[in-house]
Amino acid sequence: MPHAAITGWGKAVPERILTNADLEKMVETSDEWITSRTGIRERRVVGQHETTTSLATSAARMALERAGRTPDELDLVVVATATPDDFLVSEACLVQGELGGTAGAFDVGAACAGFVSALSVGSQFVNAGVYKRVLVVGVDTLTRYVDFTDRSTCVLFGDGAGAVVIEATEEKRGLLSTVLGADGAGHKHLFVPGWGALVPESAGLFPEYRPYLQMNGSQVYRFAVQVMGDSAAESVHKAGLTFGDIDMLIPHQANLRIIDAAARRLELPREKVWVNIDRYGNTSAASVPIALCEAADSGALHEGDNVVLVAFGAGLAWAAGVVRWGTAGVEPPCCQARERTTAGVTTGEESDE
Ligand SMILES: CC(C)(COP(=O)(O)OP(=O)(O)OC[C@H]1O[C@@H](n2cnc3c(N)ncnc32)[C@H](O)[C@@H]1OP(=O)(O)O)[C@@H](O)C(=O)NCCC(=O)NCCS
Repeated sequence: MPHAAITGWGKAVPERILTNADLEKMVETSDEWITSRTGIRERRVVGQHETTTSLATSAARMALERAGRTPDELDLVVVATATPDDFLVSEACLVQGELGGTAGAFDVGAACAGFVSALSVGSQFVNAGVYKRVLVVGVDTLTRYVDFTDRSTCVLFGDGAGAVVIEATEEKRGLLSTVLGADGAGHKHLFVPGWGALVPESAGLFPEYRPYLQMNGSQVYRFAVQVMGDSAAESVHKAGLTFGDIDMLIPHQANLRIIDAAARRLELPREKVWVNIDRYGNTSAASVPIALCEAADSGALHEGDNVVLVAFGAGLAWAAGVVRWGTAGVEPPCCQARERTTAGVTTGEESDE
């Protein structure tokens, strides 16, 4: 069975930084409250000219460049998002339209658990031998739907995009296990009333009605602590590994206390957990791939490392998996030189041409 190695990675975040000090001027909150309860110090917020598509496309281009591939070499584009720029056209089609090529394109909707879910979908096309090369993107611009007068939610979220290219290899690389779960009965603990086709009565016929994200924070917190640890642990067992085999945990960045709980469950020290929540807040489907991209760029991931990805979010849904890092056995790009960074060292593999 072919495996689906991650050969390229990229990220994009908006230019504008919204700090806790900025929020102190907008709602009754404090830097002390936000950092001690969540770990967040600042987040990125889309400006007028930044969109879900522009962020996703930038991250995708970076991932393609790292992989040494061009858009017309892609077989499929899968985008995980809860904030597409259009509700009829898939976000994946919008991204593919920007990139070029004729790859198949569709979205996966699993909110913050979206990227790990989409990675599992994309990987299975490769595992099944149907496709050789897939672009998987996680992107969200949730701040467009955050009520900046509601202190219980507006301090938490930020915008961004992350992307990976996965490619077929006979070596055991890429996603080794997948754990997906949901508790749909809990969907009203985190949702956006009036966002979809189901318009709530309160919207009436008033065109100025604007849907905003609503959340029962303590319910979501309890759910998250439980499923992040459980699903991460299950993904390790399903991969035939033990906690001692895990080199890095890359968790969804929603709350530092939730991340710490997941790390404790896997018996991992903090240095084996990638944390960037202080700089980006919760970027929803983008959080895991942004963290993965940073970890890869920093040289923290090495050929053969076992990396746990785990996320939870609206649905309520969760997704986890173990990725074996590295590009062993992947057919090198034939048309251009390829620079690949492994173990913090640029190997600069050259093509035969
Ligand atoms: C939202 C969250 C940070 C709140 O932390 P918490 O420790 O549970 O805090 P509580 O909800 O118990 O609120 C404590 C108090 O702080 C207040 N508070 C809430 N937001 C505040 C803010 N931004 N600044 C200051 N005070 C705030 C509350 O009103 C409450 O006041 P009260 O005791 O007078 O009623 C936490 O529940 C959480 O992270 N939940 C998960 C959310 C999440 O991850 N969502 C995304 C999923 S993908």
